[in-house]
Amino acid sequence: MATSKRYYVTTPIYYVNDVPHIGHAYTTLACDVLARFKRLDGFDVKFLSGTDEHGQKVEKSATEKDIDPQTFTDSVSQNFRDLLGTMNFSTDDFIRTTEERHKISVQALWKRLLDAGEIYLGSYSGWYAVRDEAFYGEGELITDKDGNKTAPSGAAVEWVEEPSYFFKLSSWQDKLLKFYDDNPDFIAPKSRRNEVTSFVSGGLMDLSVSRTTFKWGIPVPGDDEHIMYVWLDALTNYITAVGFPETETGEYATYWPADLHMVGKDILRFHAVYWPAFLMAAGLEPPKRVFAHGWWTNEGQKISKSLGNVIDPIELVETYGLDQVRYFLLREVPFGNDGDFSRKALIGRMNGELANDLGNLSQRVLSMVNKNCEGAVPRHGEFSDADNVMLGAAHGLLNSVREHIDAQSFNEAIETIWLVIRASNAYVDAQAPWKLKKEDPARMETVLYVLAETIRHIAVMLQSFMPQTMERMLDQLAISPEHRSFEFLGSEHALVSGTELPKPEGVFPRFVEEEEGA
Ligand code: MSP
Repeated sequence: MATSKRYYVTTPIYYVNDVPHIGHAYTTLACDVLARFKRLDGFDVKFLSGTDEHGQKVEKSATEKDIDPQTFTDSVSQNFRDLLGTMNFSTDDFIRTTEERHKISVQALWKRLLDAGEIYLGSYSGWYAVRDEAFYGEGELITDKDGNKTAPSGAAVEWVEEPSYFFKLSSWQDKLLKFYDDNPDFIAPKSRRNEVTSFVSGGLMDLSVSRTTFKWGIPVPGDDEHIMYVWLDALTNYITAVGFPETETGEYATYWPADLHMVGKDILRFHAVYWPAFLMAAGLEPPKRVFAHGWWTNEGQKISKSLGNVIDPIELVETYGLDQVRYFLLREVPFGNDGDFSRKALIGRMNGELANDLGNLSQRVLSMVNKNCEGAVPRHGEFSDADNVMLGAAHGLLNSVREHIDAQSFNEAIETIWLVIRASNAYVDAQAPWKLKKEDPARMETVLYVLAETIRHIAVMLQSFMPQTMERMLDQLAISPEHRSFEFLGSEHALVSGTELPKPEGVFPRFVEEEEGA
């Protein structure tokens, strides 16, 4: 594509120790909306997701199931790949850390770090949490009333003593602080940025980057006894996928540095501290931005396998509908905050906002057009002030929504669109086209035209959130698929009167809960 506007967005790569749940779907959904939005906005987009397949945690899960790690990862990775289809995610690439391209890339990065004098051999003794795949200092641990120590995340820790290579993280403190200072948008949201800068200001210890007590991972080049620390391995996926170690040509030259790494708040430190330090130490550019989103709880409770309250995205989609679930997840909670998942809240939004506000608007308008305007885009006369206000609101959507999307404020982007939907409903009520039908049919046509044109804008703007339903809505307005990107917004590409329209059909049915025991 001949465009200078490029956008590279990544999801974390998911551990293959478990089946995908709502948390995973959420991270990828946010990226999918960004990727789709940017494509509609004329960018050449690369959207990457994948699976994190090495390390002790995955090895342990495979051993527990008595399967060799490769067979195990092959099958679990497929579940994550399948989720892409289920959720209609538009990824351009799916990386697995067990692929050859990745091994080459990680080993090349290691060599760069070694050659730059950033890695040395020593020995590690300290605490390690397999669940987090993270090392913890004594001072970070929490001791319960029985004297048991756990990681701050609640994960069990074990004492580790073994030879290890270290990355000289301690020498990157000032350079990282300067980098955060020079790049105020690098960490979002703001509160998270403060968290990271105060962590780094508190001093950094050298980081153990190899282990000798398990085998499932990428060997250190020239020292097979050592397996690379799984986070060094995993983070590198973001450059593997753009062709590293080749940096001068190809996708690396086109897309790196990434525009955005989307992560959950639990893994921000790895992305905002270790990763830019590794990259700068290797003479490579750090990514432009890392956004840490919050966590979902389920009806007030922490989501965990042991509590048996894991939310399966496939079940949700089957019960409530794909776009309804996509909408809810990004609408319910300001992005960056924690949120509580409840079916009642989901149904409330489906019926209130999707069925009533948006569904009714389009169904009302399009049925009137179908019945009273010979099933074609109405003709219009002079626009009144009220018409111009309505059309102006529709035309203004792109700029304000774009601003929210660039700040990853998904709920505000949606709210901005909803203001126009609510204004359209108020406009229908005020103009009462059903009354105009007898009194002033020409005016009725103008009103319906204004509404149809407003719905076109709303549907185009909502495509990244609800691609399937908006496709149907735009089909009903007879907008050809090539005319659905943002360059076709505005009056220049307005609906053409007389264009034949298909028979309208409702796109957002009300959700009626089955009675207990029915
Ligand atoms: N493998 C690492 C990431 C390596 S990236 C170089 C990892 N994987 S994970 O599968 O455990 O988590 C992936 C993502 O899912 C994280 O961003 C995490 O925050 C997110 N979520 C897991 N549970 C979640 C919720 N309950 N709610 C929202 N997101 C959550 O970490």
